[in-house]
Order: sequence, then structure tokens, then C-alpha cells
Amino acid sequence: MAKKTSKKNRARDLDPDVLEWWTTSIIDMEPNRIKIRGHEIEKLIGAISFPQMVWLMATGELITGWREMLLESALVAAVDHGPQAPSVAAARMAVSCGVGINNAMASGVNMLGDIHGGAGQQAVELFRDISERLDGGVEPNQAVLDALENWRKKRGGFIPGYGHRFHKEQDPRSPRLLELVDKAVEEEAISGRFSAIARAVEDALAAEKGIKLPMNIDGATAVIFAEIGCSPILARGLFCLSRSVGILSHAYEQAEEGTRNKGPTPPSYGWNYEG
Ligand SMILES: CC(C)(COP(=O)(O)OP(=O)(O)OC[C@H]1O[C@@H](n2cnc3c(N)ncnc32)[C@H](O)[C@@H]1OP(=O)(O)O)[C@@H](O)C(=O)NCCC(=O)NCCS
Repeated sequence: MAKKTSKKNRARDLDPDVLEWWTTSIIDMEPNRIKIRGHEIEKLIGAISFPQMVWLMATGELITGWREMLLESALVAAVDHGPQAPSVAAARMAVSCGVGINNAMASGVNMLGDIHGGAGQQAVELFRDISERLDGGVEPNQAVLDALENWRKKRGGFIPGYGHRFHKEQDPRSPRLLELVDKAVEEEAISGRFSAIARAVEDALAAEKGIKLPMNIDGATAVIFAEIGCSPILARGLFCLSRSVGILSHAYEQAEEGTRNKGPTPPSYGWNYEG
């Protein structure tokens, strides 16, 4: 019996130039049917967690067990850092100006860059660079020193994933995340290579500087993202996804509070005019 030609296939026959304008492996859809990464959506609903869905969407892989737990932990850990965080303050100020909550969220997310909230991307790059040097047979301490020197030459003095404006002794999120990473290594769910690399970088910075520059949330989540096989750019995207939860909550709280046109400082504060 001849196969019934769906509308979509008829469109493919008729108009390949138009059909191939967007090419994706993520979603397939026709009237009354949605498939995500090959799975019918109704079979995913109620069956997989939100972190699993995020990973499935982004990579095509159904993440499970310890790796799923680590992904979820990274997403939980990075949700918020209060109105002192520029991204959160921006969202709160934006919503007080009367824009929609989506616009306020976009304002907050747009503040996440190499220095605030986006350093995870760079940290994964640095950790991968060290990993490649190890693969090339360089001795571990030397691999770290060479990679740091290379980073500084090309990208400047600040090493991504270390140091904090506020938590000078210890970012409380990092040891907990690394503890979970260690458990996953014990269970042989991940290799532990990147946590060893990140700790070696922390030690090298302490030795150089004579002060502790503790691994921050971007560094610790970068360890997880590198361990579970995330590319640098995706690491930043996942961090932004997590921080969006805090940005949403703060924008919502600020909207409910109803303050109009809230600026970065109380109105009684001035600024230093140098003109
Ligand atoms: C977050 C950050 C801006 C905080 O900077 P800060 O408040 O100036 O940090 P500190 O005052 O504790 O710095 C102490 C010293 O360590 C240096 N330092 C701080 N973080 C450093 C880093 N990541 N790499 C190298 N040196 C660093 C500072 O330059 C300063 O040196 P100095 O005494 O010679 O001037 C900074 O640590 C940074 O840019 N880190 C990298 C980016 C990053 O991971 N961002 C995510 C933050 S959650």
C-alpha cells in the first residue's frame, strides 16, 4: 500500500529551498504531533525532570544518574546572588520603570558577561586547555603554569572562576558542589579530571598571590559542566538559565512591591562630579 504523504513531506517535495531555510535536529513537528530529539512530547511530560529536558534539548542526550544530579545541583546553586549582583539589580530597576517582566528579565540576563556570571564559559576553556596539555604529556604542575601564563598573555590577568567581590574566604557554594563531584567520581559516573585541574589552579593562584583566591560559583559550576561534557559556550548558557530563576523572582518581587522608577542608589545619594 502506498505510504500516505504528509503535508510536511508534500512541502518538502514542492519547496526544498523554503523548507531548508531552518535546519534543526531538535524538534520535528507536524499538525497534532511534536517530537523533541526523537521523543514524542507526551512521553517526556511527566517522565523526565526539567534539568533532563534542558540537557536533552541542548545536546540530544538523555542525562541520568549522577550526571543528572550534578547538572541539577549546578542549576540550583547559581540561581541568585541578591540585589548586589548587577544582573539582579538591573532586573529590579527595569521592572520598576514599567517594562514587562520579560523585558526586565532580559535586562538582567544581559548583564551576565565575562566578569559577572559568564566566567564559567572561560573557566571551561581554561580547564580544557590544561586537560589538552596533560594529554600532550606535560607534567601536571607545569601544565597548569603554562596554561595560566598563556591565559594571561592572551586574555589578561584575571583567571576566570576564582575570586569574589563578596566571599573573600570561601564562596559557600563551591565546596558543596565539589563534594558532590567527588561522590560522583567515587561512583565512577565522571572522571574527576576537571575537578583535579580546577583545584590545581586554585593552589597555583594561592601560591603565586600569597592569598587565597577561592573558586567561585562560576568556577565550581564550570567543573561540573566540564565533567559532564559541556562545551564552554553551553556552560555560559546553562548558568544564564539558572540565574534567570533569581532574576525572574527579583523582578516579580519588585513588581509586586510597586515602587516606581527605582534607581541604582537612594535618591538622597549623589555622585562625584569631576567636570
Ligand atoms: C570577581 C572579581 C571581580 C573580584 O575582584 P576583587 O573584588 O578585586 O577581588 P579581591 O579584592 O579579592 O582581589 C585581591 C587580589 O587578587 C587579585 N585577583 C582577584 N581575582 C583574581 C583572579 N580571578 N585572578 C587573578 N587575580 C585575581 C586582585 O587583582 C587583587 O590583586 P592586588 O591585591 O594585586 O590588586 C575578580 O575576582 C574576578 O574578576 N574574577 C574572575 C572572573 C570571575 O570568576 N567572575 C565570577 C565572579 S562570581
